[in-house]
Amino acid sequence: MIGADGGFMTEPVEGSPAFERVPVLAGGYAEPAAYLRWYEQRNGSRHALSAQASLDLWQRELPAGWLAARLGPSPRCLIEGCASTNNVTALLGFLWRQGVPRPQIDVIDLIDLPAFGALDARARFHQADAGDLSGLYGDGSIDLVLQDHMMNCAPVARYGAILGELSRVLRAGGLAMLNYTDPSAFPAPRGTGLERRLGLEGDLAPALTGLSAAERLICTDDGFIAVTLPLGNLEYFIPFEALAGRLAEAGLRIEALRLTEGLDHNAVDGDGLACRRHHCLLVPCPR
Ligand SMILES: C[S@@+](CC[C@H](N)C(=O)[O-])C[C@H]1O[C@@H](n2cnc3c(N)ncnc32)[C@H](O)[C@@H]1O
Repeated sequence: MIGADGGFMTEPVEGSPAFERVPVLAGGYAEPAAYLRWYEQRNGSRHALSAQASLDLWQRELPAGWLAARLGPSPRCLIEGCASTNNVTALLGFLWRQGVPRPQIDVIDLIDLPAFGALDARARFHQADAGDLSGLYGDGSIDLVLQDHMMNCAPVARYGAILGELSRVLRAGGLAMLNYTDPSAFPAPRGTGLERRLGLEGDLAPALTGLSAAERLICTDDGFIAVTLPLGNLEYFIPFEALAGRLAEAGLRIEALRLTEGLDHNAVDGDGLACRRHHCLLVPCPR
């Protein structure tokens, strides 16, 4: 059953790791190795699903040296959610072109990425929940956060905690680059049949074969859940206006916003969901 917050109506287990509390289906995140392999396969040589596209957009939009003037030569950077192995390379290249030569980069993900060989020696990796970074980062300790579609992979019930932590760890004058797909370009959802199967025992993946993007799209009280191919992972979408309200509540101001549209991701993997991506530059409001 889909709850008002877009997550499953499961009993939260007190003290259990966040990874176990998020609604995962058979396969997918329960099989991180398979998930990461599949992600890399879809990424292809263009790294099409990685943060590269978003960083390229800001590279075109921002005046040369804008980030250097803002963050200095050696900012502390945090990548939140990192299924693509080239994200560190992409961020280093972007910062270099922006006149930032010596960033320190941390990466956090719910998946223990180094355990699956998905690491880059130029960054420090931590297995952590973006909704609770208290054990890793103090208040105002980060200059730049890069979050590319991570919140589309997190239950809406976790948005408050994730944005609260983002706002807390950013220093005054710091910056977050957040990319979020909202449902405004989606087809009309036809996933009622699938909804009845969510949360049941057994492998969901075979039931997804041949379903269109609309048939894998489920309406919730506040937005949509997409059941993705091929592993049955859930992705979460709320209207951008609702997200903007949550950003404001968390003390984050939208300094710039750019929209791009496209299919997620291409006809080859058959997912084909029409996505309107919101590329935001966020700054923490004065406390
Ligand atoms: C769609 S991928 C990120 C896409 C990004 N463009 C990339 O190339 O890495 C989502 C990633 O976020 C991670 N993730 C989801 N929720 C998270 C959370 N609460 N904290 C940290 N990582 C999370 C997932 O494990 C997954 O690796």
